[in-house]
Amino acid sequence: MELMEKNLKTNSMDLFDVYPLYGVTPVSAKGIVVTDDKGQEYLDFYGGHAVISIGHSHPHYIKRLKDQLERIGFYSNAVQNPLQQELAAKLGLLSGCDDYNLFLCNSGAEANENALKMASFQTGKSRVIAFRNGFHGRTSAAVATTDNEKINAPINKQQKVTFLPFDDTDAFQYEIEKGDVCAVILEAIQGVGGLDEPTTGFYQKVAELCKENQVVLIADEVQCGFGRSGKFFGFQHHGIKPDIVSIAKGMGNGFPVGGILIHKSIEATYGLLGTTFGGNHLACAATLAVLEVIEQEDLIANAATLEGDFRERAGKIPQVKRIKGRGLMLGLEFDFEVAELRKKLIYDHFLFTGGAKDKFVLRVLPALTASKTDMDEFFNRLNKAL
Ligand SMILES: Cc1ncc(COP(=O)(O)O)c(C=O)c1O
Repeated sequence: MELMEKNLKTNSMDLFDVYPLYGVTPVSAKGIVVTDDKGQEYLDFYGGHAVISIGHSHPHYIKRLKDQLERIGFYSNAVQNPLQQELAAKLGLLSGCDDYNLFLCNSGAEANENALKMASFQTGKSRVIAFRNGFHGRTSAAVATTDNEKINAPINKQQKVTFLPFDDTDAFQYEIEKGDVCAVILEAIQGVGGLDEPTTGFYQKVAELCKENQVVLIADEVQCGFGRSGKFFGFQHHGIKPDIVSIAKGMGNGFPVGGILIHKSIEATYGLLGTTFGGNHLACAATLAVLEVIEQEDLIANAATLEGDFRERAGKIPQVKRIKGRGLMLGLEFDFEVAELRKKLIYDHFLFTGGAKDKFVLRVLPALTASKTDMDEFFNRLNKAL
């Protein structure tokens, strides 16, 4: 109450204070290095929540966006935008998903919101099966499928969601066979949760039971997609084929863009989905630039190779209990909570890393352009901090 009165007396607008911030003010960035307002350089092994895929300010990305801005930045989805077709074709080719169609939106949560809505339209049902420690965003249905009571408001709790553990096939079969489920949503590698994964056997059983029960399988690839796991999509490590794939984060390398890949067996009708900003010219140019760089610089192979270096170096650190993740979506589980270590890494060793819901896990998400030298430097700084 006191705080509210204090706020009401302040007569200039301030920010709604929802983020606990580190005391660092980045003003420029290049490749894997971020520079702050005092000229201090930081090694970026976090990419602003796994967003930076092709490195900060990649010259091809800058050129594509600048050129596009000089032609046309935006028009609505009421007119032709050939960049969207170009993007769909390129994405289908590079991901091996050319049997899907593309709907473009603006963020990861929005992608999942649309995916869940499509599943419900498709099946006429409304209950969703999601998994413990999963994170799918903060909009209505997406947040309801996110395993975090604190960020679900009463309005979100109206959604019908059942949370299950990974790898409990009997519990999954029992729930899906009740007949009221429209969708199953899961991350092939959990990001915010702390890098846990379903086993291949379980993911394949989930896919099989979804088919048998006419339930839509949604692969949330917002964080683990776009090459980050060492394959274009995380689910491709498990030989399954989801009905819908949601994408965002690395897709735009910082430009806000998201989307869903919808299997061609699901039909579109006019007006079923829609958005004002989704798929605008700048968003398409940013995503095309990302795909072109991923292809030209063979970044998916680079992510897979660097995982080997990471595992080798991490294996020598006595405090590391478990090495988690794949490609450049990695985690180190320590025998202590990592919040203080992360602070030390930023302030004393100028290294950005991530935390997770699992407080013992340090998340490591460098750009896919990272080199072996960058990886060595990461471990030099980490070892000094330990
Ligand atoms: C797997 C996953 N899905 C969805 C989201 C939500 O994405 P956004 O923050 O762009 O809405 C996130 C964000 O961290 C995520 O990690």
